[in-house]
Amino acid sequence: MKEITILGSTGSIGVNTLDVISRHQDKFNVKALTANTSLDVFVTQCLQYKPEYAVMADEESASKLEEKLKKKSPDTSVLAGIDGLVKVAELNTVDYVMAAIVGAAGLLPTLAAAKAGKRVLLANKEALVMSGKLFMNTIAESDAELIPIDSEHNAIFQCIANTSNQGSNTIRSIMLTASGGPFLNTPINELPLKTPEQACKHPKWKMGRKISVDSATMMNKGLEVIEASWLFNIEPDLIDIVIHPQSIIHSLVEHKDGSVLAQLGNPDMRIPISFGLAWPERIETDVQRLDLFDIAQFDFRKPENDRFPCLKLARKAIKQGGTSSAILNAANEVAVNEFLNKKIMFTDIPKVIESVMNDVTHNNADSLDTILGDDSLARKRAIETIRNMGA
Ligand SMILES: NC(=O)c1ccc[n+]([C@@H]2O[C@H](COP(=O)([O-])OP(=O)(O)OC[C@H]3O[C@@H](n4cnc5c(N)ncnc54)[C@H](OP(=O)(O)O)[C@@H]3O)[C@@H](O)[C@H]2O)c1
Repeated sequence: MKEITILGSTGSIGVNTLDVISRHQDKFNVKALTANTSLDVFVTQCLQYKPEYAVMADEESASKLEEKLKKKSPDTSVLAGIDGLVKVAELNTVDYVMAAIVGAAGLLPTLAAAKAGKRVLLANKEALVMSGKLFMNTIAESDAELIPIDSEHNAIFQCIANTSNQGSNTIRSIMLTASGGPFLNTPINELPLKTPEQACKHPKWKMGRKISVDSATMMNKGLEVIEASWLFNIEPDLIDIVIHPQSIIHSLVEHKDGSVLAQLGNPDMRIPISFGLAWPERIETDVQRLDLFDIAQFDFRKPENDRFPCLKLARKAIKQGGTSSAILNAANEVAVNEFLNKKIMFTDIPKVIESVMNDVTHNNADSLDTILGDDSLARKRAIETIRNMGA
């Protein structure tokens, strides 16, 4: 039996993880669940899974949770804040940690899980984007296992997992597929007027609001280039982005010998989640089976630079190195949040990020303090930039 902590259990990845675990209760047990403020959903999850620990990052929500669980689930200890998140990520009795908090808020608990030598199921790409080298060094030093849950990186992992000689050294290039998001075919002059509701209406995936907007700007793919470069130790220039609107091929790896391997499946996060939980075995899911005759056609195209300026910014960040990716990520988080709050336009998102990247000097990213310091500076600068835009 594997004991599991789910960081971010109330989110889209968290809910899908619980769904997979529910079907395999002989193999996996929920030790700890965490959320931020989604009290009602979290109470329901706690009553159903009876975790030993339930953590809410938001202190006020945690107090309310404690009150609600006192009678109905007295064996669940309620914790609050970042200390609670870190504690359940590094518990001695936990084997696997699903890192599914959205954004920089997931960095410390995800790093704690890595340091404690857990199997880290990494959905929280922002944690790796921010702390790349430090995170990968932590994994190596602690002998933790790192299994990517992002569908593209999980696909790549699957495509190299059976290459027994030199792992990533056999890779000639990576083709990272992208759906193109909801605005792939929208006339570019209509983009400024797109609303948060339209941006969050992803054609293929049901996801949280932040990653949905990132998919619409394609910053998600930019973050994924950075993520893939760290995970698979490959130069970003060897990672191509291929728009594949059907979202059936989740990525491809070209090996030295000319073989190109791909992983296919219907767009359903329960596939990479169950892979990560069961690895090196495979377990049943009730994901809809792939019917190629039904799909009939695969399309591929190059992303247009003027439609998706965030791609250029992400590539610039990884080229610059150091804390540039943390600065990019922080500015993006602020800009997306302000767009979701209807304070700026959709097309302002890359403008804010570019301005912050120009204004905040990047540093060596060797220490957590420096990374968090530059993250914080970039957030402040992003807020000022938005204020100066008249928002
Ligand atoms: N969804 C997907 O299909 C998908 C695919 C690939 C990768 N990912 C990655 O997986 C991560 C999660 O995505 P998602 O779509 O599941 O997001 P989501 O639906 O927005 O869920 C986010 C989770 O994080 C928690 N959270 C938010 N802010 C927090 C904070 N400050 N402190 C602690 N917890 C906090 C939320 O709790 P509350 O509910 O209480 O706010 C929720 O449990 C992201 O990094 C995303 O890029 C997602």
